[in-house]
Amino acid sequence: MRPLVATIDLAAIRHNYAFSQRCAPGRYAFAVVKANAYGHGVREVVEALAAQADGFAVACLEEALVVREVNASARILLLEGCFEASEYQLAAQLGLDVVVQDAAQAEALLACALTAPLRVWLKLDSGMHRLGFSPEQLREAHERLQGAPQVAELNLLSHFACADERGHPLTEQQVEVFLDLLDLDFAQRSLANSAAILCIPAAHMDWLRPGIMLYGATPFADLSVAELGLQAAMSLTAQIIGVHEVPAGDTVGYGASWTAPRDSRIATVSCGYADGYPRHAPSGTPVLIAGQRAPLVGRVSMDMLSVDVTDLPQAQLGDAVELWGAQLPVDEVAQACGTIGYELLSKVTARVPRRYRQS
Ligand SMILES: Cc1ncc(COP(=O)(O)O)c(C=O)c1O
Repeated sequence: MRPLVATIDLAAIRHNYAFSQRCAPGRYAFAVVKANAYGHGVREVVEALAAQADGFAVACLEEALVVREVNASARILLLEGCFEASEYQLAAQLGLDVVVQDAAQAEALLACALTAPLRVWLKLDSGMHRLGFSPEQLREAHERLQGAPQVAELNLLSHFACADERGHPLTEQQVEVFLDLLDLDFAQRSLANSAAILCIPAAHMDWLRPGIMLYGATPFADLSVAELGLQAAMSLTAQIIGVHEVPAGDTVGYGASWTAPRDSRIATVSCGYADGYPRHAPSGTPVLIAGQRAPLVGRVSMDMLSVDVTDLPQAQLGDAVELWGAQLPVDEVAQACGTIGYELLSKVTARVPRRYRQS
């Protein structure tokens, strides 16, 4: 069997969910499990949180169907709403909470004869300018939808653009725009993603939407998971499958892009870009072998990558190599690669087996 596995610590995810609740006592929280629970396996994560989570949030109806298969009764929020009018009926049958973000979605909903009314979350564009009604449009939509037979509950939701950059002025503006609408009658309100849960109490409202923090990665560039008190959920572990003595001046890997500056010992490791490890990871990106860091060298191949173990003389064939995980934060690897932990975690491909630990 190919020695590469993503070990998912479900106890860490439960710990991180409880942590989000402790940040905002008395509030509810939709665990954000879109994109296969950020790569961790949506079925297993939903099962692990069944007794704890107030609800789950997903990006689309296809993802909601999977969550509903695993959990018959939890609230499930469709973060981008319905993409086609025909989806409302299925959403009603599944008992979903549905975002409505523009007039077209609102009118499509009002044109439906549903078997059961839906909990509707009007999405406010409070400044990110990605999805959502402007404040004036939202007032109109509120008037259109309030009391409509298709609507069981009318709620307000918005999303931050820069909550991960602490002190960013846009965040305060977005909170203001949100608060300005609270003269309207809403049953429930939701504004906070992980960064806001952790650092902006004024944004907590009624329902939190923790995503990345559940998986033990940080939303912040300047605060690590350890500093935040979160636990990494995924460890991506490969093995040394080859060791080569490379004389100074010889090159390693495709494109001969890395030249050994000294006589070197190079380990070949069983993980590549077809597993989700970023091909653009530069030489120097850390991996962990027996608790010690070693630098990636040369180009990442489809199924393998190379590591300079000259300074780890005890490293040998068969040793485990942590690409990221409990001992090497995914955020550190992401930073070396010019990206964010979200991308690395959610891009671990289907060919990497997930192994689950309960504790
Ligand atoms: C609308 C919405 N809410 C909440 C989240 C969760 O965000 P985070 O993973 O930063 O906690 C996301 C994720 O992108 C989102 O799109």
